[in-house]
Amino acid sequence: MTVHTVAVLGAGLMGRGIAYVSAIGGYRTILQDTSDAALDQASAEISALLEKGIATGKVKGEDAAAAHKRLTTCTRLEEAAREADLVIEAVPEQIALKVELFGTLDRLAPVHAILASNTSSLSITEMAAATSRPAQVVGMHFFNPVHRMRLLEIVRALETSEATLALAAEVGGRMGKECVVVRESPGFVTSRINAMIGNEAFYMLQEGIASAADIDRALKLGLNHPMGPFELVDLVGLDTRLAILKFLHRTLGEKFRPCPLIEQYVAAGRLGRKSGRGVFDYPAGS
Ligand SMILES: NC(=O)c1ccc[n+]([C@@H]2O[C@H](COP(=O)([O-])OP(=O)(O)OC[C@H]3O[C@@H](n4cnc5c(N)ncnc54)[C@H](O)[C@@H]3O)[C@@H](O)[C@H]2O)c1
Repeated sequence: MTVHTVAVLGAGLMGRGIAYVSAIGGYRTILQDTSDAALDQASAEISALLEKGIATGKVKGEDAAAAHKRLTTCTRLEEAAREADLVIEAVPEQIALKVELFGTLDRLAPVHAILASNTSSLSITEMAAATSRPAQVVGMHFFNPVHRMRLLEIVRALETSEATLALAAEVGGRMGKECVVVRESPGFVTSRINAMIGNEAFYMLQEGIASAADIDRALKLGLNHPMGPFELVDLVGLDTRLAILKFLHRTLGEKFRPCPLIEQYVAAGRLGRKSGRGVFDYPAGS
């Protein structure tokens, strides 16, 4: 099977980035979201990324124009799903929402279509069970910001076929990613490690061991992490990270109990860059 059309569901932080690499990778791309505002913001960001790509010499003018042409947006799921060879969902990290979406997609997408989830931690097998095509369901875990991060973590659920894995890897390659295939397990490889480090950093902050800025500096300069854990969680979104931690706590046990401080930040609406304030402040326009 050859993938011509990719539908990306959810035009938030991740969906807009996946739509960008998909269009640049040569796929006809349909970006769908229930919110018009999210789609408007996503289109503006994708255009800005293409402009920046041209300005820095990373994208040729004609490639950017072609990518622009390949990309459309819509609010109706039917419209996005009915012509897709591959659907990649990037809706919020809630299992009930994703399971319901996979059931609906199974009815709307062509029978040959592959259904993929960009979940950071949840069970692809559970999503696959809501469909009549579990062999064609796979995890395609991209990283934020999608246009810059090189990894695609491909997740093999209980019944994912070899053909589906091969297709996910081929698409990942055309989107400019290097792929690793992991067997399904809560948090896969990357989110499990990342959640552990990030949660520990919140415990240290809560205990007053060092300031947030100094904890970040220590990990960057001493352990050679490209970003500090707080800089990173502000980019990921504290709500998304908390949802992952709660799931890992439930499935892998006590060592992943979310630090009360992250729960408090989320309750206060401090969600990270996307809300203007997380661990650090992001004044408008910064
Ligand atoms: N944030 C990260 O760094 C990151 C990294 C890797 C994977 N992920 C995963 O990607 C997924 C999305 O995360 P995000 O950070 O982009 O979230 P986000 O909150 O930025 O965006 C989610 C988008 O989904 C839309 N949406 C909600 N319900 C919908 C529905 N039923 N149909 C279509 N659109 C719907 C919302 O309007 C919103 O625009 C999650 O599963 C998350 O775990 C996130």
